Amino acid sequence: MSTNTIDNTRKVTTRRLIEMKQRGEKISMLTAYDYSSAKILDEAGIDCILVGDSASNVMAGNVTTLPITLDQMIYHAKSVMKAVKRALVVVDLPFGSYQGNSKEALASAIRMMKESHAEAIKLEGGAEIRESVERILSAGIPVMGHLGLTPQSINKFGTYTVRAREEQEAAKLIADAKLLEELGCFALVIEKVPAALTAKVAAELTIPVIGIGAGAADGQVLVMHDMLGINKGFSPRFLRRYADLASIMTDAVGRYIEDVKRSDFPSESEQY
Ligand code: KIV
Repeated sequence: MSTNTIDNTRKVTTRRLIEMKQRGEKISMLTAYDYSSAKILDEAGIDCILVGDSASNVMAGNVTTLPITLDQMIYHAKSVMKAVKRALVVVDLPFGSYQGNSKEALASAIRMMKESHAEAIKLEGGAEIRESVERILSAGIPVMGHLGLTPQSINKFGTYTVRAREEQEAAKLIADAKLLEELGCFALVIEKVPAALTAKVAAELTIPVIGIGAGAADGQVLVMHDMLGINKGFSPRFLRRYADLASIMTDAVGRYIEDVKRSDFPSESEQY
């Protein structure tokens, strides 16, 4: 039996996330890319659903997030939006849909909002995407920032190891976080940086900082397929597994195969 005291009725908005930080109430966030999963997460009381471009890895089997297209992200976001009643739904703008210039960024954000009915978008980067963030915000579209390990830049980093261990990179991350808050972003994801740096950023910002592999913050985000043990090929230190769904599914499918092979399924009562 769940012991949480979540208000499962009140719609989560960008404003409400900021109020949660003010009250010291932690924000829970998970990824979803499809209707059925999003419905389960929403009904369980998750605060925020991220239609992440990790769909490129998890749904499409790509090695990086780079190949997923804006059309594909819109498809995933539309499916999620049909299921969600309470959680705030944030969607990643994919690689190549906003880095070119701020006009292109706004056009991509508008397409996402119009076609998927998503409630906010997430972009990776700091000062280098300043103009795009400004333009999107000026159109009334809420923006969540994403700093630290930014998987769309994996070819520049060359590795998925912890970011901002050195003073110079940490200082840039702090400056970028402050800039994104000043511009009007409603929240930030910080991925895979030292916990002390996340704590410093969270203490200095009034907007919520949501961590992944970044220690304690105003909230946490994980990829649903990782935390449910559907994808077992990814075991970083920061990942806590809450279920072993891969084993449960393998067992169920194995029993189904067996039943079909020995003509046990369907039984008399399972046919017309
Ligand atoms: O795409 C994604 O799943 C993300 C999270 C890792 C934050 O951006």
